Amino acid sequence: MRAKFGIDAPGVVRTLALLGVALGVLAWPVFALLRAAWGGAAAVAVSAGLALTALTLLTQSVWMVYSSLVAKHRLWHRTLDGLALRGDERVLEVGPGRGAVLLRAARHVPRGHLVGVDLWRAQDQSGNGRAALLANARAAGVADRVEVLDGDMRDLPFPAAEFDLALAGLAIHNLPAGERARAVGELLRVVRPGGRVVILDFEGTAGYADALRQGGADAVHTSARHWSMHPPVRLVTATAPAARP
Ligand SMILES: C[S@@+](CC[C@H](N)C(=O)[O-])C[C@H]1O[C@@H](n2cnc3c(N)ncnc32)[C@H](O)[C@@H]1O
Repeated sequence: MRAKFGIDAPGVVRTLALLGVALGVLAWPVFALLRAAWGGAAAVAVSAGLALTALTLLTQSVWMVYSSLVAKHRLWHRTLDGLALRGDERVLEVGPGRGAVLLRAARHVPRGHLVGVDLWRAQDQSGNGRAALLANARAAGVADRVEVLDGDMRDLPFPAAEFDLALAGLAIHNLPAGERARAVGELLRVVRPGGRVVILDFEGTAGYADALRQGGADAVHTSARHWSMHPPVRLVTATAPAARP
């Protein structure tokens, strides 16, 4: 069986696609009606506007599916590769969903241990659930190294300095804006001194970087936008401080 990782924000993808199809289908009858009532130029202007909007919505929908199925995997592969991991790290991901990132990380730490903590919200990923992640872990042959817990990223059930690497992909933006710094603080707390934090998201990244600096993290870096994904994302990386402030 092959691992299947689902589509992120499936409701948004569906709404964009349905609106796009509806507007596209409307463009022709609107053109015919307006040509009879107002003449050719007005009919062309309005129906071309409708068709263009339809195309934009459909493009966004397809781009989001491409992000979930292809672009996200490639970007995380490059990012994890760039961390030059030893291979025996303990890795945490908050909000792993069906495991696209966590199980990719498993390939980068062949002797490592991986832990995912999630609330498994259906609206955030199609088919989301701990059973789906565990089935994917079995399909990838890493189930013996993967541990999955129900929990909230704002209150992680681990002592300090438990992990070498903490990841969050398209997860923290789901929190109310005022709660995000708390989740970032938790990532930093559970990473050992000198360990790494990597966050990928399409909004809130300036706030994540601020929260990491305020938590005393070193080498906080925010990438340029990656346009291969929609919405385009940034990566925020940081190193946990040797001494806690
Ligand atoms: C868009 S999915 C991303 C899944 C995975 N990181 C990936 O990139 O494929 C966001 C995930 O964050 C989880 N999530 C949302 N709020 C959470 C919270 N407060 N604590 C833990 N997980 C949360 C959702 O259940 C979902 O699995």
